[in-house]
Amino acid sequence: MITFDSVTKRYPDGTVAVDNLSLEAPTGQITVFVGPSGCGKTTSLRMINRMIDASDGQILLDGTAVQTIDPPTLRRGIGYVIQQAGLFPHRKIVDNVATVPFLLGWDKKKARDRAMELLEVVGLDPAMAQRYPFQLSGGQQQRVGVARALAADPPVLLMDEPFSAVDPIVRTSLQDELLKLQSELNKTIVFVTHDIDEAIKLGDRVAVLRVGGRLAQLADPKTLLSEPADEFVREFLGHDRGIRRLQFISAAGLRLRTDLTVAEDAFPADSDEPWLLIVTPDRRPVAWVTPRRPEEREPYGTFLHGKDNMRSALDAALLSPSGCAVAVDEDGKVVGVATREALDEALAEAADV
Ligand SMILES: Nc1ncnc2c1ncn2[C@@H]1O[C@H](COP(=O)(O)OP(=O)(O)OP(=O)(O)O)[C@@H](O)[C@H]1O
Ligand SMILES: [Mg+2]
Repeated sequence: MITFDSVTKRYPDGTVAVDNLSLEAPTGQITVFVGPSGCGKTTSLRMINRMIDASDGQILLDGTAVQTIDPPTLRRGIGYVIQQAGLFPHRKIVDNVATVPFLLGWDKKKARDRAMELLEVVGLDPAMAQRYPFQLSGGQQQRVGVARALAADPPVLLMDEPFSAVDPIVRTSLQDELLKLQSELNKTIVFVTHDIDEAIKLGDRVAVLRVGGRLAQLADPKTLLSEPADEFVREFLGHDRGIRRLQFISAAGLRLRTDLTVAEDAFPADSDEPWLLIVTPDRRPVAWVTPRRPEEREPYGTFLHGKDNMRSALDAALLSPSGCAVAVDEDGKVVGVATREALDEALAEAADV
């Protein structure tokens, strides 16, 4: 666990970058620091591994004040990942990843074997090992940065806007991979970003900082979205806060109808239903059809029954002119249909929470 105990950082020119910050980053969890530019995120992060020393207060690592640990020893247990990876341009990828093991005096072969193993862990082709950083895309370089930080298997990872410089699609996959990795590795991660969506997606806990380095709110993402502490946090979360909250509400409770599916060749000439879902003999969805225009097939959207959240269910409904969302099981077979009324009911309930 990392503990900030009344930590203040005053730079020599008088700038107070962090003001009396107290919080805990629990072991094995991702704690995100989020906030506008200049609010002291990087300063806070760098005080953990003593790249910057606090002016007042202290930071404890599992109960020991970091000020009492000499920086090289401290950093051995702390991986550090920054924006644009910060790789050594004249070293091959494999040697970039092996940087810390080399420093720790591992023999070359063991260090390189470990590096090769980690390239695989972060989803890179081993063939990349012999390249130089400039021969990799931005996203691939970021993966190398993560592999390098993990090389000596440190219990703590500090990540400062590690995915900010890559395009949104690569960014999404890097985030997904970090979550997957974390579910296996259980590191204590402090992750800095100015992107609230990234914070909500990655954080077990999110610390929202305001300029002047003051903590505005510390909460899990769901609480943050449903109970912002003040106007600053509310503004920072943005106006689509309500929609984003839906991702924390399970769609499992949606009322489903099972009487709205029909077989391809059994389409009824007269039906009072505005929409019917054509399914294959093994109950896979084919298309929505409205009895008024039976020759026109309309697209459908699905969500995974019992697994997906309300946001996915709503997305599924919005993909189809029927306004209904199709619930499917893991095999893609139709379990039932959530009509507009069922979605309305569930959304009204969610709004009350
Ligand atoms: N070496 C320094 N000397 C004086 N002031 C500094 C120094 N480094 C940072 N600051 C100031 O401290 C404040 C916090 O800076 P910091 O880099 O921690 O912010 P940040 O939240 O990481 O911002 P960004 O999102 O832009 O990276 C800013 O006002 C910054 O100008
Ligand atoms: Mg910064």
